Amino acid sequence: MCIISQTINLEMNKLYSSIQSYLLIALLFAVHTAVAQINTNGIAPVKIEKAGPAVSNLAPTPPMGWNSWNTFQTNINETLLKEMVDAYVSSGMKDAGYHYFVLDDGWMSMERDANGNLVADPKKFPNGMKAFADYVHSKGLKFGIYNCAGTQTCGGYPGSRGHEYQDALLYASWGVDYLKYDWCNTDSLNAREAYITMSSALKATKRPIVFSLCEWGNHQPWLWAGGVGELYRTTGDITASFDHDKHMGTWTALSVMNILGKQDKIRRYNGPNHWNDPDMLEVGNGMSVNEDKSHFSMWCMLSAPLIAGNDLRKMNEATKNILPNREAIAIDQDPLGVAAYRVSVKDSIEIWVKPLKDQELAVCFLNTGSQTQSLDVKWPELDAACKAAGLETKFTGTDYILHDIWSKKTTGNSKSMLTRQLASHDVLMLKLTRK
Ligand code: GLA
Repeated sequence: MCIISQTINLEMNKLYSSIQSYLLIALLFAVHTAVAQINTNGIAPVKIEKAGPAVSNLAPTPPMGWNSWNTFQTNINETLLKEMVDAYVSSGMKDAGYHYFVLDDGWMSMERDANGNLVADPKKFPNGMKAFADYVHSKGLKFGIYNCAGTQTCGGYPGSRGHEYQDALLYASWGVDYLKYDWCNTDSLNAREAYITMSSALKATKRPIVFSLCEWGNHQPWLWAGGVGELYRTTGDITASFDHDKHMGTWTALSVMNILGKQDKIRRYNGPNHWNDPDMLEVGNGMSVNEDKSHFSMWCMLSAPLIAGNDLRKMNEATKNILPNREAIAIDQDPLGVAAYRVSVKDSIEIWVKPLKDQELAVCFLNTGSQTQSLDVKWPELDAACKAAGLETKFTGTDYILHDIWSKKTTGNSKSMLTRQLASHDVLMLKLTRK
């Protein structure tokens, strides 16, 4: 009896123990399922590694080059452009640091070929685009080309929409180093997505190609274009006028001053490999010498891309002194890539201050008015204006040597008062070095 009872107890214990095991397994399974469910419902804190766009290092300083649009619009051809390439080198532009040679709109035939490839207009480029790219490269320059995110370019030539990867491969096969990508005929396209598509297509070619976004600042590219491209237009098109916009029917071409006025509030988005682009230069295209000098100085103060747009074969003395001015260019190309702060606007004089490496500074006094103005600068008095603009620069107690970028002369130090007459639309551009 006792043996029987012991045996029963033993069996019961086994049964309980098995039931316990089953319960434990069931409990674990239930917990696991619940956790899995929580995860798939996205309620639990699931860590997702979100890859941002890979940043290239193709433009650690603002790109410098020449583009055909401002002077020639779509009237370009191989003969003319070869002359321009030669003048690029003989004028000293290349030695001064410019190196992209960019064809804008108008290089293509009106139709793609039977395989859907873009074709260089055979009348304008009888030897094809690869031969022209080779010519540019043979002079030690880099080659840039233009297209558009829409169905057609602004000039009505075939756009890249739906052909992004095909076009990128074609450009790479020609040896393209730079693509300017416009925003005409885009209907309801999402700008960020359209530019990411072309950016991905360029990256997929494995050829390093600088990507210049040209959607005119319509969709605030300064907020999202870093990593998508190296530079992005911040406004509509520039025109060779200091302070008068030109109405062109359906759109308005913007003066240098109008564009400059839009840059201060987006200055903080500028930096290495993601440059605010206030459009190409109009130096040498009809403004006065002072206006050209001011335009160039301010683009350098902004750390803007320096893309000349004049006829390089016909540079007069003034233009030859402005575009290749190495001291101004060094301010543009300063490795910090910090755009200038507008610290004061008074009596038609704007004061802009740009921090440079090694705690140096560039300071510009710009007379936007139509009369000559007297400058009487007591440097320590600028401290408050700098601080209000968010710039911690102390002129008080710091002894700077002042170097005039345009006269190329040292012009005193920050311990004494600076007095000058500044003509209408002229600029005084100084580099300040600590003593
Ligand atoms: C747009 C661009 C210009 C130029 C033309 C070409 O207007 O903003 O810079 O490229 O198209 O058609």
